[in-house]
Amino acid sequence: MSSNEKLLSRAIRERRATPSFDGASIPDEDLRQILQAGLNAPSGYNMQPWRFIVVRTLEQKKRLRDASFNQAKVEEASAMIVACGDADGWRSGDLEEMLRTGRQGGMSESYAEQARQNIPNYLSNHPNMPMWLNRQVMIAFTHMMLMAEVLGYDTAPMEGFEQEKVREVLKLPLSYEVVALLGIGHLQGTDKHNGGRFDMARTVFAEEYGKPLRL
Ligand SMILES: Cc1cc2nc3c(=O)[nH]c(=O)nc-3n(C[C@H](O)[C@H](O)[C@H](O)COP(=O)(O)O)c2cc1C
Repeated sequence: MSSNEKLLSRAIRERRATPSFDGASIPDEDLRQILQAGLNAPSGYNMQPWRFIVVRTLEQKKRLRDASFNQAKVEEASAMIVACGDADGWRSGDLEEMLRTGRQGGMSESYAEQARQNIPNYLSNHPNMPMWLNRQVMIAFTHMMLMAEVLGYDTAPMEGFEQEKVREVLKLPLSYEVVALLGIGHLQGTDKHNGGRFDMARTVFAEEYGKPLRL
């Protein structure tokens, strides 16, 4: 850990959705660390259906901005990470790759054998593939956002984009679903108002819905 990294607890407390970035470039090594944090995230069956497109050139950021309701921070960010899910990854090599890395880590042959049957069965019949992708991709996305904050960057998660336009700008395969955009950089100006958060009593229950949790 480098000496100027923030503790994760502090990064979580202090993180804000950044309204405007100063546009300075981001060192490759920091970007690599941020991306790797996302790739280390857990996923169902370890299937890792996420795909990320990193956008850093001004011209491509401008195109992405046009596809994102003209949000200026898309163009101002040092890097935009477009988080996608691939609905067909498991059909086109991910399953075998997951079994290969799993075996390296000690996965048993019987587990691998079961997985080879169960995973295609589960995913080919999944009642809501966009939801499944979303669930996996957002965990990796959050890992990246928090790693960027730990490294001293400011971040902006974004759902304000037009799916078809982003697809076109990034030349995405048809099986890809754009899940969210993550802007990374340094805050320019001041943060927007602090929206605060709901009290725990409103959103957390004990044992069953409606029962207050006493801590
Ligand atoms: C999934 C997601 C999508 C968001 N999309 C946008 C967006 O498109 N544009 C924007 O200005 N803020 C966006 N935000 C930021 C939220 O408005 C912000 O997180 C919220 O108001 C709370 O503010 P805070 O994060 O500074 O505490 C998004 C946040 C999340 C988690």
